[in-house]
Amino acid sequence: MTSTKLCRVVVLISGGGTNLQALIDAQQTGELPVQLAAVISNRPGVKGLQRAADAGIPHGILDHKAYASREHFDEALIQLIDSHKPDLVVLAGFMRILTPAFTGHYLGRMLNIHPSLLPKYQGLHTHQRAIDAGDSCHGVTVHFVTAELDGGPAVVQAKVNILAEDTADTLAQRVQAQEHIIYPLAVKWFAKGDLLMENGLSLLNGELLPHCGHLIDHSG
Ligand code: GRF
Repeated sequence: MTSTKLCRVVVLISGGGTNLQALIDAQQTGELPVQLAAVISNRPGVKGLQRAADAGIPHGILDHKAYASREHFDEALIQLIDSHKPDLVVLAGFMRILTPAFTGHYLGRMLNIHPSLLPKYQGLHTHQRAIDAGDSCHGVTVHFVTAELDGGPAVVQAKVNILAEDTADTLAQRVQAQEHIIYPLAVKWFAKGDLLMENGLSLLNGELLPHCGHLIDHSG
């Protein structure tokens, strides 16, 4: 008898966990054939931890405030993550700058979601920055994580129009709806073995992805 081992995914969060919920929902409907092995938050009391509990996923807190340095925290985090034997680490609103030791340890097996059309608007306040710049469109990118903040090779990008009446909040809501579609999709590709990072580039089904990743374009 042969059995297929499910891809083990550890999800890191710092907050509400709507992207985590999208992964849980996709896993529960059978759309996303992975094992959500653990959810780890660096902040106590966040809603994402309750989502993990409700779904029966092992979950824990590693509070960065208890560590003297970024390096010490990241070392402890590696130990905790690796105790769950992940094939893939998914950053889902994990609000920490990562050390090169951490990103190097998970190189090619860690994804992040960033609410902009990378390489535009790395860092924070992306929705307001896109509005202030007078951009006509905005969006979200899933990318492999490298040592450069929000800088690793893109996997998939969803693009939406910026409307004249948009505020940062209304724009964020439309972008988040896309986040909840493209993150399960990217995780599914990885879990199936269709997606990988090689020589700093993303490949899907053996083909190099364009600089923006696979584009889902709702603009225009
Ligand atoms: C999302 O907007 C994501 O793009 C960014 O952090 C936010 C997390 O939201 N990296 P949630 O915790 O998944 O609701």
